[in-house]
Amino acid sequence: MKPYLSIEKLTQRFPDGAGSDLTVFENASFGVEKGEFVVILGHSGCGKSTIMNILAGLADPTSGVVVMDGKEVKGPSLDRGVVFQNYSLLPWLTTLKNVTFGVKARYPDWSKAKVEEHATKFLAMVGLEGDVIHRKPSQLSGGMRQRVSIARAFANHPKLLLLDEPFGALDALTRGTIQDELLKIWGQMEQTVFMITHDIDEAILLADRILLMTNGPQARVAESVEITIPRPRKRTEIVEHPNYYAIRNHLVQFLGKRSKELAGQLTNDGETNRPEYVRIDKTEAPDDPEDKQPALRAVNS
Ligand SMILES: Nc1ncnc2c1ncn2[C@@H]1O[C@H](COP(=O)(O)OP(=O)(O)OP(=O)(O)O)[C@@H](O)[C@H]1O
Ligand SMILES: [Mg+2]
Repeated sequence: MKPYLSIEKLTQRFPDGAGSDLTVFENASFGVEKGEFVVILGHSGCGKSTIMNILAGLADPTSGVVVMDGKEVKGPSLDRGVVFQNYSLLPWLTTLKNVTFGVKARYPDWSKAKVEEHATKFLAMVGLEGDVIHRKPSQLSGGMRQRVSIARAFANHPKLLLLDEPFGALDALTRGTIQDELLKIWGQMEQTVFMITHDIDEAILLADRILLMTNGPQARVAESVEITIPRPRKRTEIVEHPNYYAIRNHLVQFLGKRSKELAGQLTNDGETNRPEYVRIDKTEAPDDPEDKQPALRAVNS
């Protein structure tokens, strides 16, 4: 059976400005299950935001398809909520109206008061309360704008939440608080999340699975790493879990070395180019009692 969100043989080429084409990624294929929290990690320029724009329906790939819940993704929809890398708020609307705008479209039967109450609740959740919600985006700091953009996406309860480095402009404390809010929202609703980040620790804290991209051009999703740390997770406690540093080291190794070595190569299964599935679990007894190696298994999914 197909996963809830299925990315099939996605290729993106752009004109390189010198008369030929730049292949950003080629035949990228992977799936995301309903309710899953998937994070994508990869170096700058490998094509993460491009993939996200395609998932959001804001850009068309050169070839390949995205299917969500049995339907091909074509154009934007309220089913997919996006937090962009550059926030993208509507500059002529106040903070509150930037949020109510989408809520009204999502819930056309709601009264004005109910829409405002709902939007205000989500703004408060990201720490924006009082006068500030009546200010325009140009009167806010970068971190505040990013929080408005997060509140706007969360308030619409999309079937798929797409987050492009949503916490990049936030200080460590706010970042921690909003990560916790995101986990709470994700835990309460059957929310499917696809998120881009550069922060390995944030990825381990939040994700069910981390997709690792090789460097571009001709990047691909090379590995899908399961995060074998039980939930609920607390940032202060997960570092003590026996799998934490094993997973972290694997990710650091990939980003530091293998993302470059694997660049431009296809998988064994060059036909579909699906990522290799990696499961690291130090708490599992080895299948073979002779095998004293850490339980690292890689199989093609
Ligand atoms: N509209 C476009 N026209 C031409 N080239 C583009 C276009 N959009 C993106 N690119 C190129 O595609 C590549 C991937 O860009 P993308 O923004 O997806 O990278 P990214 O992985 O999100 O990087 P970062 O981590 O820095 O945000 C880059 O080389 C970029 O220059
Ligand atoms: Mg990007």
